[in-house]
Amino acid sequence: MRCDRYQSFFTADNLMGPNSVRLLDELLEEYPLRFSPEQRVLDLGCGTGLTSMFMAKETGATVYANDLWVKEEENRARFAAWGMADRLIPVHEDATKLRFDRDMFDAMISIDSYHYFAGEEGFFAEKILPYIRPGGTVLIAVPGMKAAYDGQSEALLTPWLGDEAYMFRGPGFWRRVIGAHEEIDEARTWEMKAFDLPWQEWFATGHRFAIGDMAHYDSLIRPYTAFVGIMVRKRR
Ligand SMILES: C[S@@+](CC[C@H](N)C(=O)[O-])C[C@H]1O[C@@H](n2cnc3c(N)ncnc32)[C@H](O)[C@@H]1O
Repeated sequence: MRCDRYQSFFTADNLMGPNSVRLLDELLEEYPLRFSPEQRVLDLGCGTGLTSMFMAKETGATVYANDLWVKEEENRARFAAWGMADRLIPVHEDATKLRFDRDMFDAMISIDSYHYFAGEEGFFAEKILPYIRPGGTVLIAVPGMKAAYDGQSEALLTPWLGDEAYMFRGPGFWRRVIGAHEEIDEARTWEMKAFDLPWQEWFATGHRFAIGDMAHYDSLIRPYTAFVGIMVRKRR
């Protein structure tokens, strides 16, 4: 996969969980995107912007790298150090209160962050769809439940995730939450193929949160969870 060329970036300083670049790579294999630098992609909840960098390099777009916990100045300095200052625009906004222009983005991606703020019906149509241009594509990957365990995350995952266990939902939940809307042409959710490798690459960073996750991998994470892919295409 194209992601393998980025191995040197998979460090404790850059990763914030299971390898987000590998998840994005799988989404782009399934739904290839190609842009010019004049075209804009929003990376919502980008963290350190690793997925933003991959997106800019692999699709050609200019990427607006938006995050809440990581400050704009911190990402600006990182993007400059990566030699990507001209193609990555750091933004510090809460995803529930975005203030972009209507139809501003050709695509939106969100990897390992959408479950923090978007698990309510109506959120997608109200807070995301207006910023995507007609015909634009949305690609999302979230950690969630295998379809067989959808709705059981609090009963099964609380020893690992505490009061954040409810955020882990299956493909059926996410399809319902995306909902139907006259401007949605196509929407699909599914269990992604990627699983063990993104987790192993996270563990290999030695990050203290990775060590905590590793303790639950065999008993909870592998048996019950999956990464859920979400694809939405806006009507032309
Ligand atoms: C586990 S990190 C993943 C970061 C990055 N996407 C990656 O995969 O490396 C989750 C991210 O979600 C972001 N996030 C959570 N709530 C948010 C909100 N309301 N608005 C914007 N970003 C949010 C956090 O700032 C954090 O960087």
